[in-house]
Amino acid sequence: MSRTVLVLNGPNLNMLGTREPATYGHETLADVDALCQRSAATLGLEVEFRQTNHEGVAIDWIHQARGRCAAVVINPGAWTHTSIALRDALSAAELPVIEVHISNVHAREEFRHHSYISGIAVAVMAGFGTNGYRLALEHVGHLLNNKKG
Ligand code: DQA
Repeated sequence: MSRTVLVLNGPNLNMLGTREPATYGHETLADVDALCQRSAATLGLEVEFRQTNHEGVAIDWIHQARGRCAAVVINPGAWTHTSIALRDALSAAELPVIEVHISNVHAREEFRHHSYISGIAVAVMAGFGTNGYRLALEHVGHLLNNKKG
């Protein structure tokens, strides 16, 4: 059984560390990758950590995860609030999805309160900073360890 987790980051997350640090902190995406790799090692998971600014590329990667990965941890960035296509891709992948937001989107502008992804996610992390990725991976480990069959 696969223990590979696709950790997928959407638009503008390549700018982490320099982008609005008051909201997103000072850690870079490379720091988040390293955090995920460390967490995965302790949980017996393998992480494929990716980022793209192109929605079609993200959708292709999600399709390729189907039947190969055990779960998808996704920070969809602004696509959270706009993309039915991303939601449909995640549904089609038939994998557990955990949605991660560094900031607490519910304490921010009204347009960030709605997520197209949450309805098909098994869990949502928001406002835990980059620690949300680690918590999401812990939950994936928990799900896989308790999976029957
Ligand atoms: C974000 C929140 C989104 O509203 C925003 O568009 C992002 C980052 C977060 O991690 O807090 O790009 O997903």
